[in-house]
Amino acid sequence: MDKLAIRGGKRLDGELWVSGAKNAALPILAATLLSPEPVTIRNLPHLHDITTMMELLGCMGVGLVVDERLSIEIDASTIKDFSAPYELVKTMRASILVLGPMLAHFGKAHVSFPGGCAIGSRPVDIHLKGLEAMGATIDVDGGYINASVDGRLKGARILMETVTVGGTENLLMAATLAEGQTVLENAAREPEVVDLALCLIAMGAKISGHGTDTIVIDGVEKLHGCTYDVMPDRIEAGTYLVAAAATGGRVRLRDCDAGDLEVVLTKLEEAGATVTTGPDWIELDMEGRRPKAVSLKTAPYPGFPTDMQAQFTALNAVAEGTATVTETVFENRLIQTHEMNRMGANIVIEGNTAIITGQETLRGAPVMASDLRASASLVIAGLVAQGETVVDRIYHIDRGYECIEEKLQTLGADIRRLAG
Ligand code: EPU
Repeated sequence: MDKLAIRGGKRLDGELWVSGAKNAALPILAATLLSPEPVTIRNLPHLHDITTMMELLGCMGVGLVVDERLSIEIDASTIKDFSAPYELVKTMRASILVLGPMLAHFGKAHVSFPGGCAIGSRPVDIHLKGLEAMGATIDVDGGYINASVDGRLKGARILMETVTVGGTENLLMAATLAEGQTVLENAAREPEVVDLALCLIAMGAKISGHGTDTIVIDGVEKLHGCTYDVMPDRIEAGTYLVAAAATGGRVRLRDCDAGDLEVVLTKLEEAGATVTTGPDWIELDMEGRRPKAVSLKTAPYPGFPTDMQAQFTALNAVAEGTATVTETVFENRLIQTHEMNRMGANIVIEGNTAIITGQETLRGAPVMASDLRASASLVIAGLVAQGETVVDRIYHIDRGYECIEEKLQTLGADIRRLAG
């Protein structure tokens, strides 16, 4: 198993290009199952999760033509097998996103039930209830979801009891080919949901209200091919901004949208950073200052993203003052704090809140990554710690951060991959 070895204490300084967004790319790749014509997706990040989604489509018989820059032309007309096997779903829960499109286009789907993961139990009941409200028959047997519908799905008014990104995406995709109108209430407003809606519209779907909590979809009989560029990854961008801030450094990010990161940028300013933005860039400069502690509470968009919580916990671990970080989206997403305490952090957990008393410095240590964003936070802690930190199980990080060590090296970090 590969590891990352980091010698901390260097102030980051430099410029980076932000990659395409993993969490927009995954539903968009699934959405190509809705079209009888080839769809070309560009600006895909080179990530393990993207390869897994491609493998999933490939094993269904979907035609994939990949060019050297990872633009993919996807042709769902050659599909032969309507199933998502356990072997793939267990490595990537986002495989559940093929359920809605397969059912809506082909009338059937056989998808392994995704289990929980390190960050929480992560049920998919809202996905299934919504599809049933649209006329699907769903039966769970042998760990698989068997879904079918006679003819087309029917438009419905669906009030989702919890704000769910994946649930909104699955139902949004399914509704594009349903008969009549679907209204999704209490819908997720995340920029990745909007990006999916824009791709579906480019494929001929009739959607309004994306980006608000009520999305209205007028079903059409057929979608068509298109070429679509995935949005920049706001979480990758946010992670490098926090890394620069934690080290007292400076970073200029290109190909990113400051509008998607409003609450994160506000928190970074509260921590003492000078943040300037342009139409497709963000610059952060700490001018050597130690960050100030910033308290926060995660919430669905436009609230503070749960996917940035661990990185801010690392920032607070070396900040001046005491902060509270409350996680409200996933029940088990403060686990990385125990590893950070091994590096000399002072973090106390009370329920779903971490109370973090900032330390002047952390000490390098061998630590273990438990999920994607937790791993990123351990890398940030390693960048500020004295001595060497070795982060184990970085396959988590390779699922969501393209070339993390190269990108950090560009900013002057002393980081290298140890092949395991
Ligand atoms: N939930 C239910 N029932 C459902 C669906 C969700 O109770 O049917 C609950 C979940 O258990 C959770 C909450 O609703 O407590 C929110 O979960 P959501 O469905 O929004 O999460 P997701 O779609 O599984 C996506 C991202 C996550 C990100 C969350 C929240 C993708 C592929 N994943 O997950 O990204 O944390 O939204 O923003 O888009 C990551 O990139 O590291 C990551 C975990």
